[in-house]
Amino acid sequence: MRILVLGSGAREHAITTALLAEGAGHVITVAPGNAGIAADVETVSLDPTNGPLVAEYAIENGIELVVVGPEAPLIAGVADPLRTRGIPVFGPSGAAAQLEGSKAFAKRIMAEAGVPTGRPLSAGTVEQAVAAIDELGAPYVVKADGLAAGKGVLVTEDRQAAVDHATYWLQHGPVVVEEFLDGEEVSLFFLSDGHDVRALSPAQDHKRLGDGDTGPNTGGMGAYSPLPWLTDRWESEQAFVAEVTELVALPTVRRLEHEGTPFVGLLYCGLIVTEQGVRVIEFNARFGDPETQVVLPRLTTPLSTLLTAAATGQLAGAPEPTFSADVAVTVVLASEGYPENPRTGRVITGVDAANAREGVSVAHAATAVLDGDLVATGGRVLSVVGTGSDFAQARERAYAGLADITLEGAQYRTDIAAKVAR
Ligand code: AMP
Ligand code: GLY
Repeated sequence: MRILVLGSGAREHAITTALLAEGAGHVITVAPGNAGIAADVETVSLDPTNGPLVAEYAIENGIELVVVGPEAPLIAGVADPLRTRGIPVFGPSGAAAQLEGSKAFAKRIMAEAGVPTGRPLSAGTVEQAVAAIDELGAPYVVKADGLAAGKGVLVTEDRQAAVDHATYWLQHGPVVVEEFLDGEEVSLFFLSDGHDVRALSPAQDHKRLGDGDTGPNTGGMGAYSPLPWLTDRWESEQAFVAEVTELVALPTVRRLEHEGTPFVGLLYCGLIVTEQGVRVIEFNARFGDPETQVVLPRLTTPLSTLLTAAATGQLAGAPEPTFSADVAVTVVLASEGYPENPRTGRVITGVDAANAREGVSVAHAATAVLDGDLVATGGRVLSVVGTGSDFAQARERAYAGLADITLEGAQYRTDIAAKVAR
């Protein structure tokens, strides 16, 4: 197949790697990609948020499937002109992508679909925010309504910090104050064709910058899959997945279908497993990063088959996704100053040595080649993935690969998947 992948991060590198691993001879182009992706497939400099341009490119080049990686192009509506022109696209319309683009929209859909979530109070003014903060009490959860690249959410015991956060983000639009939910987080991905869904294997992200879940929120500093502790509470991973399918994914997809904004693409369910049951903390309209880097290497069903079935309304007839018994761990290497003010342009070495290790593969997140050197071009730079028969082995491999790599001032967590690797 001729496949066009939009995006430039480690998620898109992992998607490309999974498509290549099928061995089906796909011709893959990534726009715009990065240095790691360009070493594997063709890249093209095309603005992924420019829908008409992307559609023109896809038609001229006989593209049979477009896979949209990041949220910004989705929310900008890149999928709309593609769909209008009959090109199969894995990624929701601009209207359906509001599930990620607006917390208030997501909360409304959840309420109407009866999906369990933290109780939300919307605020458009500082007075309303303060009232909501005092009504829901500590710990306080305050979220900017629109896209904020992981910076819009504050969870704190400090009332003044909660009020300050709300006050700051109210300059950009409404905020949502939410009931605090206590428990383990799960990222569960569902492929959706607008009516039916198929679940992938669960993963857990590590959102805070520092070891022990300290420091600021980030896009994600590492992840692992599957989640062995789910069976403390459910009979099996399948039982957990079936429950989330019934309680969360299907009602959400059916509600959007009913509203005339069908969701075709990846429904990312960000969940917290509380004492009272599973609750949604957020939806995203795309594959998660870094979770994709640990879910896709374990997928044994051809990814292109699943994405095409979703894009063409044929998931009901598609195979149930299956996963290897191997486990996967990824550790993100980030630039000095990330997430506030990442230092870019510094030289990276050792990626080839890491890739040469058994069970290690490096997904590039923000890299370019400059005068023959590999350089960092953003905050999250690389995602080093280790796979193995157990978490101790996968973790050891990921960290051994990471140790091969040098980048001045780089930051990474040393405790990714530590709690499952005993
Ligand atoms: P979000 O951008 O909505 O995923 O939030 C970022 C992070 O904040 C999540 O991964 C959680 O760790 C935390 N968080 C968000 N909402 C809640 C909540 N209602 N209760 C507890 N923690 C939350
Ligand atoms: N890893 C969190 C996200 O992709 O939003």
